[in-house]
Amino acid sequence: MSSFPAALSDVKDSMRETLSRVRQDAAHCRRCPLWQHATQTVFGEGPARAAMMLIGEQPGDQEDLVGRPFVGPAGRVLDEALEAAGIHRKDVYVTNAVKHFKNEPRGKRRLHKKPNEAEIDACRWWLDKERALVRPRLTVALGGSAAAALLGSKVSIGKMRGVPIPAAPTTLWITVHPSYVLRIPDRPARKAEFARFVNDLAAAGAWLAAHPRIPA
Ligand code: URA
Repeated sequence: MSSFPAALSDVKDSMRETLSRVRQDAAHCRRCPLWQHATQTVFGEGPARAAMMLIGEQPGDQEDLVGRPFVGPAGRVLDEALEAAGIHRKDVYVTNAVKHFKNEPRGKRRLHKKPNEAEIDACRWWLDKERALVRPRLTVALGGSAAAALLGSKVSIGKMRGVPIPAAPTTLWITVHPSYVLRIPDRPARKAEFARFVNDLAAAGAWLAAHPRIPA
């Protein structure tokens, strides 16, 4: 039979938030109406103590079906860019500002719709929990929605990209969203923008290497 203090610590243990518990709770999220037209909640994935967290906008069509972030066309651009920047995706925690796919049915297709401020605000509940549990040293916002979710207002990506922004308890890095690169129709322009995206990620990786976690 367990003694009283042990029983108390059991209760504390059972109350402790873990990523897997938050993930389970998020699966039933009704904090905004977006769940109604989505297949499932797409929660973040990656090491629970990742030094780097990447935050996108919201799952797309394929992510919605598979239940994992960045597995569709934008995910392929992101994977390629991470590899070119010397960053292993398996070392990074990848998530989104909004956890349900916002879409508009158009015939057989579901068209992506940008999440609005209220939806980003509602979903910050989950993002804040992921950030508090993973405690990354560097958080990379991929595009405007992620940057707005983190900073609380719209920012100019062009002016703020590629430099460390102190945002205690983490440092924030802002770059473009991989779908932005994907949508550039002109091939040389797309190649150049991809290279800039890789540069931003590589600079983020270099910042992290130069700022190791100080052992407690
Ligand atoms: N775009 C995002 O912002 N996130 C995904 O997971 C996929 C596409």
